[in-house]
Order: sequence, then C-alpha cells, then structure tokens
Amino acid sequence: MNDPQPNAGPTPYELLGGEAAVRGLVDRFYDLMDLEPAYAGIRRLHPPALDGSRDKLFWFLSGWLGGPPVYAERIGHPMLRARHLPFSIGVDERDQWLRCMSQAMDEAGVDPVLQRRLAQAFFGTADWMRNRPG
Ligand code: HEM
Repeated sequence: MNDPQPNAGPTPYELLGGEAAVRGLVDRFYDLMDLEPAYAGIRRLHPPALDGSRDKLFWFLSGWLGGPPVYAERIGHPMLRARHLPFSIGVDERDQWLRCMSQAMDEAGVDPVLQRRLAQAFFGTADWMRNRPG
C-alpha cells in the first residue's frame, strides 16, 4: 500500500517558525549582503535599494519552504534560472550567495539539523543558477 501522506510532518516553513521568521531570515540575508565586504561581489549585481529584492525572495522562499505560494500568486511561475540570466553567475557568486545565506541562518538561530538540510537544497538551486563557466 502506498503511503497516503508521503509529505507528512512539519514543513521547513513551519520548522523555521512561519511567516515572521522567514521574513526575518530574508532581511538578515540582505542586511549581511549590504554590510559584509565578503559579499560585495553579489551585492553589486543588485539594485541600489534592496526593498524589491527582499520582498521577492521572501515571497519565493515562502512557497519553496512549503508555506503559502506567495510568489506564484503575485508574480507567476518563478522561472528562476531565466530571471538570473541578466546577471553573470559563476562559482564565486554562487558561493557568496550560499555563505551569506548560511551566515543569516546561523545568526537567526536556525536549528543546525534544519540548517544542513536547507543548505543542501539551497546549493542545488544556487548551482543551477550558474550561467558562466568557472
Ligand atoms: C547563485 C547566486 C545568486 C545570485 C548572484 C543572485 C542574484 C540575484 C539578483 C542580482 C537578483 C535581482 C534582484 C532584484 O531584481 O531586485 C535576483 C533575484 C532573485 N533571486 Fe537570486 N541570486 C542567486 C541565487 C538565488 C537563489 C539560490 C535563490 C532562491 C533560493 C534566488 C532567488 C531569487 C528571487 C526569487 C529573485 C527575484 C526574481 C524576480 O522576480 O525578478 N536567487 N537574484
């Protein structure tokens, strides 16, 4: 017999603490990108004001983490790879994005087991965004 609830159990969205926690994580991520010289390489790909980037990443992560699909409702299909094509993304940019997100998760006090699970998933998505060799 098939498992009737293959996805039973709390979603990462719930485990993180819901809407306010996901928004807090995104805000910390962009605060760090703005502040830390180590992320300057990806900061300069973004617009001078990060408000729109904050909203869009929050809406996207909400659905991606198993919460309400806000991005799909407001904007439509994410088509993330296509939307990143205007920006030159190689290994350095990918790794800066991932380190910035890991630091944000750390500072937000995300449980280490959940952090490892999310880091793996973020790696897959970020690596798929690479559009430049090296
Ligand atoms: C691999 C390194 C990455 C770089 C350098 C990068 C850079 C950028 C830049 C410059 C923008 C445009 C910002 C704006 O329009 O305000 C953007 C948009 C966005 N990024 Fe990334 N990104 C990366 C990885 C990721 C990953 C891993 C995710 C999701 C897990 C993600 C999700 C998004 C979303 C949802 C948007 C908004 C798309 C839109 O509606 O225009 N990005 N990214």
